[in-house]
Amino acid sequence: MDRPAARAVLDRLWRRGLDLLGCEVAILGGAMTWVSERNLVAAISNAGGFGVIACGSMTPALLADEIGATRALTAKPFGVNLIVMHPALATLAETCIAHGVSHVVLAGGLPPADIVRRLRDAGVKVLGFAPALAIARKLVRSGIDGLIIEGMEAGGHIGAVSTSVLAQEILPVLSEVPVFVAGGIGRGEAILCYLEMGAAGCQLGTRFVCARESIAHPRFKQAFIRAAARDATPSVQLDRRFPVIPVRALANKATEAFLERQRDVVGRFDRGEISQKEAQLEIEHFWAGALRRAVVDGDVEHGSLMAGQSVGLVSAEQPTAAIIGELVDQALAAIVRRAALLAPKPEQGAAAPDRGAAE
Ligand SMILES: Cc1cc2nc3c(=O)[nH]c(=O)nc-3n(C[C@H](O)[C@H](O)[C@H](O)COP(=O)(O)O)c2cc1C
Repeated sequence: MDRPAARAVLDRLWRRGLDLLGCEVAILGGAMTWVSERNLVAAISNAGGFGVIACGSMTPALLADEIGATRALTAKPFGVNLIVMHPALATLAETCIAHGVSHVVLAGGLPPADIVRRLRDAGVKVLGFAPALAIARKLVRSGIDGLIIEGMEAGGHIGAVSTSVLAQEILPVLSEVPVFVAGGIGRGEAILCYLEMGAAGCQLGTRFVCARESIAHPRFKQAFIRAAARDATPSVQLDRRFPVIPVRALANKATEAFLERQRDVVGRFDRGEISQKEAQLEIEHFWAGALRRAVVDGDVEHGSLMAGQSVGLVSAEQPTAAIIGELVDQALAAIVRRAALLAPKPEQGAAAPDRGAAE
C-alpha cells in the first residue's frame, strides 16, 4: 500500500470527525487555559487540525476579542471551550453566537441542557465531555453533536478512569454521535488505534504546549521538554474530609507546598480554629492564579505545571504544522505496515503444496 492509499484509509476512519469539525485532520488541539489563545489555535487550524480557544475565566468582552483576533490569523474553522461553572456561562454562549463561532466545547462538568439547546438552535455545533457511558448517553439525548472522552492520563483536571478503559467502554457501543478520544495521546499510532475502535478523532493538549506558536513561557516549555511521563502526577488529597479536585501536573515546589498547606489547614480545623467551610475554601484557593503564574510568568516552581503523561513524548519545541504532520505520518506508516502484514505472501503460497506433499 502506498501513502495516498493509506491516507484514503485514514480519511475513511476519521470521516465523521472531519465532517463534524470541517477540517482536514481530525485532531483537536484541546483547549488549555492561558496556552490556547489566538496564536496556537490559529496555528493548529492552519495546519489542518482543529484549534480550540480556552475561555477559562475570560470575561465575555475578552472572549469576543480573542475570537476576532483568532479569525484574523486563520480562515479555517476553530472552536471555543467554555467552562460550565463560569458564572457568565450564558453570556459567553451568547458571545460565541454573536461572533459566529461554529463550534463550542462545554467542559468542566455536565453541559446544562438549556445552553446546549440555545447554542444548537443558533446553529452552533456543541461538543461535551463524557466521563462515563451513562453520561455519554444522557448527553446524546440532550442533542449534543459530538463527545470527548478523556482519560486520567491527561493534563489538567482529570477523572478516575484511564483513556484505554473509557475507550473500550464507550467506543464500541456509542455510535449516535462522533466521539473523540483524549488523554495520554502523543503519537499517530495511538490515534489510529482509537480510530479503529470507532473514534471519530482525537484531542491532544500536552503535545501542543511546546509548539513554536504556543505563547507558553520558555521556562514552562523547558519543564515539559525535560519531564518524563512519571513526573506528571495527580494532586494529592491529604484528608478525606477535605476533597481536592484531581489535577495532573508536573511535580514542583508548589506540589510540596500544597501538601503542607493542607496539613496546616486540617490542623487548624481539628483544633477548632477555623470552620469546615473556611478550611475547604483555603485549600481550594491554594491554586488560584497558579496556572497563569507558570504559563505566563514562567514561575515553574510556584506555579501549576499542568501536564499529561504524554509529556514524556515531548522532546523539543516544534512548529505546530510539524507536530500535526508527524502525528499523521505515524498513523499512515502504521496503516502501511498493517497492510504489508496482512497481504498474502506469494512465496509462502508457493511453498505450501511442497509441505503438503511431504506430509
Ligand atoms: C496546561 C493545560 C491546561 C488545560 N486547560 C483546560 C481547559 O481550560 N479546559 C479544558 O476543557 N481542558 C483543559 N485541559 C485539557 C486539554 O484540553 C486536553 O483535553 C488534555 O490536555 C488532553 O490530554 P493530554 O494532555 O494527555 O493530551 C488543559 C490541559 C493542560 C495540559
